[in-house]
Amino acid sequence: MTTAEIAELTHGETRVESVVTGVAIDSRRVTPGDLFVALAGERANGADFADDALAAGAAAALVPRGQEGPGRIAVDDPLDALAVVAREVRLRGTASVVGITGSTGKTSTKDILAALLAPHTAVVASRQNENNELGVPLTLARIEPVTGVAVVEMAMRGLGQIAHLAAIARPQIGIVTGVGPVHLELLGTIENVARAKAELLQALPADGTAIVPYGEPLLEPYLAGLGCTVVSFGAEQGADVQLRAFTATGGAGQAEIALRGRTLSVSVNFTARHNALNLAAAAAAYDSLGLPLDELALGAGDVAFSRWRGEEIELPGGGLLIADCYNANPTSMAAALRHLSESAAGRRRVAVLGDMAELGADAGEYHREVGELLGELGIEVVVAVGPEARAYGGRWFATVAELREALGDVIRPGDAVLVKASRSVGLEDAVEAIAP
Ligand SMILES: Nc1ncnc2c1ncn2[C@@H]1O[C@H](COP(=O)(O)OP(=O)(O)OP(=O)(O)O)[C@@H](O)[C@H]1O
Ligand SMILES: [Mg+2]
Repeated sequence: MTTAEIAELTHGETRVESVVTGVAIDSRRVTPGDLFVALAGERANGADFADDALAAGAAAALVPRGQEGPGRIAVDDPLDALAVVAREVRLRGTASVVGITGSTGKTSTKDILAALLAPHTAVVASRQNENNELGVPLTLARIEPVTGVAVVEMAMRGLGQIAHLAAIARPQIGIVTGVGPVHLELLGTIENVARAKAELLQALPADGTAIVPYGEPLLEPYLAGLGCTVVSFGAEQGADVQLRAFTATGGAGQAEIALRGRTLSVSVNFTARHNALNLAAAAAAYDSLGLPLDELALGAGDVAFSRWRGEEIELPGGGLLIADCYNANPTSMAAALRHLSESAAGRRRVAVLGDMAELGADAGEYHREVGELLGELGIEVVVAVGPEARAYGGRWFATVAELREALGDVIRPGDAVLVKASRSVGLEDAVEAIAP
């Protein structure tokens, strides 16, 4: 895109004449030809680094009005302008766009779908957790003429946000991984969570495909009004894409996926059943893109999961550490505890669990329910960290630092250990202490 085109699209002012081939928001990571977007951060003001970015080869710098200068395009709001540019990049490309939202499993589903697509086409996918009003445009801006599919994670903390992201990304395929009690502090009710997720489905074109969990009553009210095709996924009989069976041993899994009258056997490089359900959702998107079903399994053994999401690390003495401290909510906590039980294979199970954040008024109840599940599963050792986590039962620590001190007498060689909490708890410190 030329700087003149960018200025026109963003109602900006500029005297630069150059061609832009990429986007950077950190002046230290500029590659030649990038458009440097000067964002206002908490500590730093992006515009202060515009000259560094230009010196590093940026084709132009998008700055707020009042910060005009050589090489700069001055706009009302650089973040809004980036969204406009990203949307244009997406519209000019020929890539199909798959949007993924849901309370849990967005990043994992994105990583699985990217792996399924990789043998067939050039894929752009959100990096790590690039899923908000900044991350989505950054992902879209990486679309190139050769890109076949863009897989875009979309998150929200309130109503209207997914609609905004979908208006930028214009997905043809939308996946809702699930609806659960997440971000209740802002949304209030789980019905509102469903309503927010449904914004993605409502943004799909008539020839698009909505991929939704089978039988989810909370999404039901929105499905009838959709003009597009609806495909359900799940483990239950009746799902359009059904996970018929899943078994796992020694770091690998085997899934049986039934769709369109066929049953496919898929070898995967993961062991958690919740990821096999994410695979079913990804398989639905793969099929909607018109790719050959016979070749669905080609890339399934090469999923590169993002960090701290159920990463499995061998411990001395035959032990296993499941590092799942990227985030936690009632749905993912239950899935992870079931996975711990399935993976333990006779080993003593140790659950090191922290608070689940942002659950609003019912937070206490949600934490008590985790405590009940720990009891039902008969988890041998429960270690809880943080104020809310006290409701899990077991041995309690106020802080991760206190927990770290005691880890030596909590974990024994040969244990199967799950470490999980909301990100804000910082439980990755415990992971580092367990598996340095
Ligand atoms: N389908 C699923 N059902 C239940 N739990 C899941 C599922 N998929 C993943 N998880 C659990 O949720 C954790 C977070 O997964 P992931 O990062 O994919 O979610 P996300 O929706 O992208 O989260 P965020 O909102 O932080 O972006 C995983 O480590 C795992 O414990
Ligand atoms: Mg994510």
